[in-house]
Amino acid sequence: MTRLQGKVAVVTGAARGLGAAIATRLCEEGAAVMLTDILDGEETSQRLRDAGHQAAFTVMDVAKRDAWKPVLSDTASRFGGIDILVNNAGVYRPATIETIDLDDLIDVYGINLFGPMLGMQAVIPYMRERGGGSIINIASNATDFIFPETISYGSSKAALANMTKAVAVHCGRQGYRIRANSIHPGPHATAMMGTDSPLVQRIPLGRMGTPEELAATVVYLASDDAAFVTATELFVDGGLIAA
Ligand SMILES: NC(=O)c1ccc[n+]([C@@H]2O[C@H](COP(=O)([O-])OP(=O)(O)OC[C@H]3O[C@@H](n4cnc5c(N)ncnc54)[C@H](O)[C@@H]3O)[C@@H](O)[C@H]2O)c1
Repeated sequence: MTRLQGKVAVVTGAARGLGAAIATRLCEEGAAVMLTDILDGEETSQRLRDAGHQAAFTVMDVAKRDAWKPVLSDTASRFGGIDILVNNAGVYRPATIETIDLDDLIDVYGINLFGPMLGMQAVIPYMRERGGGSIINIASNATDFIFPETISYGSSKAALANMTKAVAVHCGRQGYRIRANSIHPGPHATAMMGTDSPLVQRIPLGRMGTPEELAATVVYLASDDAAFVTATELFVDGGLIAA
């Protein structure tokens, strides 16, 4: 399992949940990983180093426009460059059109949409220096699976998927060899989703996904196995969106 030997990755929201599983699997595939979060991710990072992997943790709020540059610069000088960015940090705040508060919407967009935009903008020069790279944005199947309460979350993720494609087309046309794709998970057992979901009975595969299964799709998009895959939406939801 060394499909990412010599690669360097930055993963946001990596202190727990899907982000921690993604960082772990990227390390297991040979990548050096910078974990970032607003929560303390040092324990996860230490566990990875104890297992012989190259990993570091730094506190970073993805929504803060000045936060990205120092973190990417530190990552590049520590590990020699940056090849992979996984924009995983995200928040879910339930609200309908009748209950939504504009400040709350701006907050959700700040984390789920503006943060990834800042990250993609800041990482492109590093990836160009390496002759290419892979940007993976964790969206949600809420882009297409609509509930009244997902007005802010779903619209932020739908915009993220659209933005990902604009970045992919731009980078492709510029000849940067930088790919950009979005992953659209269905229910996975994490702090955000809990260990049970009312949606489970509607999932054709009959269960929630595991963080490890989601991490495997990140590795695919990060690796050369996906060399011709860009501007795509990859649904990892046990078939829920089709059912
Ligand atoms: N778990 C699911 O079923 C599911 C389904 C669809 C999409 N997703 C998406 O997957 C991603 C990970 O979700 P999860 O289930 O692991 O959630 P989680 O709440 O367990 O983890 C999210 C992480 O993001 C971090 N975070 C929040 N705001 C941040 C900020 N401003 N800056 C940096 N980090 C921040 C949190 O501290 C946390 O560690 C999210 O983008 C989420 O929308 C999850």
